[in-house]
Amino acid sequence: MLAVNVMNLLLIITNGMFVVSGSLSLDSAEMRVLDSTFGNCEVKILPTKPKSIDLDVHAFSDAKDVLLQFGAFSFIDGKYNEVIETEKVSICDLPKSDNPLVQFMYKEMKKVGNLTTACPVLKGHYYVHGLTVYESDVPMPLPSGKFKLEVNGTAIKDDNNAVPLFELDIFFTESV
Ligand SMILES: *[C@@H]1O[C@H](CO)[C@@H](O)[C@H](O)[C@H]1NC(C)=O
Ligand SMILES: *[C@@H]1O[C@H](CO)[C@@H](O)[C@H](O)[C@H]1NC(C)=O
Repeated sequence: MLAVNVMNLLLIITNGMFVVSGSLSLDSAEMRVLDSTFGNCEVKILPTKPKSIDLDVHAFSDAKDVLLQFGAFSFIDGKYNEVIETEKVSICDLPKSDNPLVQFMYKEMKKVGNLTTACPVLKGHYYVHGLTVYESDVPMPLPSGKFKLEVNGTAIKDDNNAVPLFELDIFFTESV
């Protein structure tokens, strides 16, 4: 009886460790620039170990604000299904957002770049270089499989018109 319990306990512990030791790998990234007169954005995946992301944004005009909307998707039944989507967040409110997905993306990007969180957003070059995502930093447990993080950016012009700027998709695989 005791032996069985110990066995169960061991199974639980080893199962737990198995999940923790799963690994998250960065697969690819795609950037769609929606208004190339307002700005140009590029993303690339570097073959470092682990892989990392370089993101460069060249803003050609000032904007009153830039709104970001974040989404997380899980690949189930042959397609990416949305798991979480945030509201549109003003770039100047990023540091004080209490949404776990927004906080996570903001903290990771701030580590390795000079993305601004000041409004108005001045024209210039902003970058995130060599961003790696470690599983231990992800704010939620991940089942194994394929994932996508999506960020949509919209500029707010001085006349308050909204200009869709880009859609960024980052693809991951979690394996256990
Ligand atoms: C980003 O924009 C696309 C196209 O409009 C839309 O299908 C998608 O749901 C948006 N994603 C987020 C996270 O807002
Ligand atoms: C961000 O850093 C890059 C590279 O050092 C620099 O060229 C650029 O001017 C900086 N951008 C801003 C807005 O400070």
